[in-house]
Amino acid sequence: MNIDGRPWRTIWLEPDGRSGLHAIGVIDQTLLPHRFSTRSLRSCDEAAEAIRTMVVRGAPLIGVTGAYGLMLALQADPGDGALAAAFEQLNATRPTAINLRWALERVRARVQPLPPAERAEAAKAEAGAIADEDVAMGEAIGEHGLRLLQELAVARPAGRQGEPLNVLTHCNAGWVATVDWGTALAPIYKAHRAGLPVHVWVDETRPRNQGASLTAWELGREGVPHTVIADNAGGHLMQHGQVDAVIVGSDRTTRCGDVCNKIGTYLKALAAHDNGVPFYVALPGSTIDWAISDGLAEIPIEARGAEEVTYIQGLGADGSITRVRLTPEGSTAFNPAFDVTPARMVTALITERGVAPASEAGLRGLYGATA
Ligand code: MRU
Repeated sequence: MNIDGRPWRTIWLEPDGRSGLHAIGVIDQTLLPHRFSTRSLRSCDEAAEAIRTMVVRGAPLIGVTGAYGLMLALQADPGDGALAAAFEQLNATRPTAINLRWALERVRARVQPLPPAERAEAAKAEAGAIADEDVAMGEAIGEHGLRLLQELAVARPAGRQGEPLNVLTHCNAGWVATVDWGTALAPIYKAHRAGLPVHVWVDETRPRNQGASLTAWELGREGVPHTVIADNAGGHLMQHGQVDAVIVGSDRTTRCGDVCNKIGTYLKALAAHDNGVPFYVALPGSTIDWAISDGLAEIPIEARGAEEVTYIQGLGADGSITRVRLTPEGSTAFNPAFDVTPARMVTALITERGVAPASEAGLRGLYGATA
């Protein structure tokens, strides 16, 4: 996608200054939207730290960063012990998004049978393939989602034809959460480029404000009309007919279609259900956990630090990025990072293979009985 007219991906290879070895370049998402800055990750430790601290975040991008993190580890030591340790270190950084384990397992399966001297190069190739596939999946999700949005636009009453379609989204499931295109935002970018008028209600997404910081920034760079709303406003907008559809991403989807996504997603699904607003979840196949069926019982929910709730970061009057305390000294805080929306509240899943009901039959219909 574009930043000031220049196309970017969120992760790339770059020379690390030592002959023949690579570092990974990433956009530092902790500084957006106030500062656009890139970082070089030169070791597995640095890749793990970047995932843990959310320099990079979003399920698909976490997966690709993990894959390249294994490459970094193997550049330093291609032996079996180092491979196993790096796998565990990276896999432990964030527990909810299944893409991380999926990508790590894919790279490990590719390199393990090889002689150590060939492993780093093979890891680089596999991580690159995962990254390229992610871009293709995002674009395909965009095409399938665009058709849904076109159908919604046509189905509106005569008096509302031609008005922008109002889509509400939660968190950031845009291109900075992936390698390019995004998941939930991909249909919106496709619609905007196709000339279908669209306006996005952007949930701020406390506590890390991925909506206010990242989604609003991305949409602005692409010129998509949008309005940031407090997390609590969505239900009210739906009650007043101001939301035509909700589209969110997913960090892990069970084979039966339960969807785990950023905390607060479930409340939007409840409000959409109560108001007859279609609630779509956009996801690549790498986000499906075929081993589990019951999202509430089986998906580990990451609990992040209380300081993400008790403090907030923003741009100070002097132009510096500042953190301020919100809560009284001594108040405790609890910070579950994700919640589960049951399949029954999901109108449909938008995947790179097409649109399907949120059910095992729906997913098997797209991915086959043996997936
Ligand atoms: O904690 P984050 O910012 O990594 O959470 C991201 C989300 O919940 C996204 O909505 C999800 O990863 C889907 S992104 C394509």
